[in-house]
Amino acid sequence: MSDGPLVLGIETSCDETGIGIVRGHTLLVDEVASSVEEHARFGGVVPEVASRAHLEAMVPTLERACEKAGVRLSDVDAVAVTSGPGLAGALLVGVAAAKALALGLGKPLYGVNHLAAHVAVDQLEHGPLPEPCLAMLVSGGHSSLLRVEDVTTGVEPLGATIDDAAGEAFDKVARLLGLPFPGGPHIDRAARSGNSVAIDFPRGLTARRDLERHRFDFSFSGLKTAVARWVEARERAGETVDVSDVAASFQEAVCDVLTRKAIDAAVTQGIDDILIGGGVAANSRLRAMAEERAAAKGIRVRVPRPGLCTDNGAMVAALGAELVARGRTPSALDLPADSSQPITTVVA
Ligand code: KG4
Ligand code: ZN
Repeated sequence: MSDGPLVLGIETSCDETGIGIVRGHTLLVDEVASSVEEHARFGGVVPEVASRAHLEAMVPTLERACEKAGVRLSDVDAVAVTSGPGLAGALLVGVAAAKALALGLGKPLYGVNHLAAHVAVDQLEHGPLPEPCLAMLVSGGHSSLLRVEDVTTGVEPLGATIDDAAGEAFDKVARLLGLPFPGGPHIDRAARSGNSVAIDFPRGLTARRDLERHRFDFSFSGLKTAVARWVEARERAGETVDVSDVAASFQEAVCDVLTRKAIDAAVTQGIDDILIGGGVAANSRLRAMAEERAAAKGIRVRVPRPGLCTDNGAMVAALGAELVARGRTPSALDLPADSSQPITTVVA
């Protein structure tokens, strides 16, 4: 077994109750209880439903994690929890549980930033993070480009979405195509048998005039509207809509913009390593396109395996372990849940 602190991580910022335990860079267990099915009929996460599901899942998930890892809570060196950003009520459940554990065990508490945790998780798979690295975080709630010098002290935001997040665009377009929620994996699958150049959908914020102010920002709401208009027009004309072609062309537009901007940011910043995280990083086309385009510029791409890209407790534990290893100051026991915790605040 590798060295390093034994850290318990708790994630409840959205609809996944995640409990992860790591020792240093070694993942011991990653237990996730998802309430996604309870939200499916609403086409999106319902905050109150998510909070209640976290309350019900917290203790059983924690017990399962400890049992699978063969860890007693008294052996844990520190407790880390996502303190934000995320849904306020959902975050509160995790933060309250983490405080109770830290207080009861007499161990330090780290309230960590959800986005920084998405970055740190890759250490569990690919070892220490290159410093600096360029992180592209793409999920249902966020799409950002970050310069990461040291994930425990600060992360510099270079750009972010100005409207919908990338995953949100996948979910909304899937809904429009009659595919289930969450839409990302369904679009990914449908796209495999479709033609990605069938429809030339718009690439948001890539025109020359947009690049002046929004070079590293994203916009996906225009793309979503373009897909809606295209589908409506075909339906009005009584034509059948080829879901695979729409999915493939839409996915191509999203991946094109994401990879183009990430590589531009890395080149501009003189960074040789791009890390992709968040649920959308599970997209097969995004992975392939990023690797191909980055390689042409001599840039390496790291993407954690899909299970570590979507929300989970291991990512929180991974960041917690790094904070302990680098001797960072823990949070106070009156740590609040901060639904809009800025990316520059790694530990609240
Ligand atoms: O990181 P995550 O689990 O939760 C948030 O913090 O939002 O990301 C969930 C998002 C959803 O929007 C889902 O549709 C998207 O990630 N997603 C995908 C894929 N798998 C999940 N998007 C595109 N392709 C995929 N294969
Ligand atoms: Zn996330």
